[in-house]
Amino acid sequence: MSVHSEIKKITTETLRKMKFDNDKISMITAYDFTTAKMVDAGGIDAVLVGDSAANVMAGFETTLPITLDQMIYHTQCVVRGIDRALVVADLPFGTYQSNPEKALESAVRMMKEGGAHAVKIEGGKEIEESIRKIVNAGIPVMGHLGLTPQSIYQFGTYKVRAKEDAEAEKLISDAKLLEELGCFAVVLEKIPADLAKKVTEAITIPTIGIGAGANCDGQVLVYHDMVGMNKGFSPKFLRRYLDLYTEITGAVAQYVKDVKSVDFPNESESY
Ligand code: KIV
Repeated sequence: MSVHSEIKKITTETLRKMKFDNDKISMITAYDFTTAKMVDAGGIDAVLVGDSAANVMAGFETTLPITLDQMIYHTQCVVRGIDRALVVADLPFGTYQSNPEKALESAVRMMKEGGAHAVKIEGGKEIEESIRKIVNAGIPVMGHLGLTPQSIYQFGTYKVRAKEDAEAEKLISDAKLLEELGCFAVVLEKIPADLAKKVTEAITIPTIGIGAGANCDGQVLVYHDMVGMNKGFSPKFLRRYLDLYTEITGAVAQYVKDVKSVDFPNESESY
């Protein structure tokens, strides 16, 4: 019997039930073992190994450059740190849009090599066949609508999406399609709160919002933003729970001072 057998693991079914019970779902990103351990210990319901790793781990401007191999590596690290939460991994740009066979191949690698519990992909009607193929193989899929960062060069801006009727209607119809295709949940990124409420009421699968107001079934934030490591990034939707950028740079400055003044290490810190 596993030592973890007493821990009740979160599954896609748990999330469905949480929506039904009006029990809000908490989700956060993680990209490494140590962070995964901390967010799991904090009681998070779901962890997203987001392709935002391209930004916060690798320093790229957009999420486009990260590869499937790199996302698999991050996912392996996170999975090793998780006892309870559901681990959802992003399929990166270019690994599922071109054809359903390639999409399935990418999703299978993410599950088999990465150890993810589910995958997330961006888009609606345009990637219908890819979603169908992955879901039919028994792999849980989380959708992602609204501001989909992999399409940033098409949007040209990170501003709020679906403010106009036509885009809002397409978003509602895409959300219904994702439900029909068997997605277990959908991320709604940076859309008006009223629209997110409409979508949440129109479908039976959970909506997880980021910059989409309080009426979603859950919320997701990028870990580095939430703990204040990302000094220059302060969109309206972000609540910072810590100011780690200041804490860490202050601690490092003190360490530098202590090393230079030979205050560190002292006798009790020496053998
Ligand atoms: O990659 C990511 O972190 C995401 C979230 C912003 C939802 O997709």
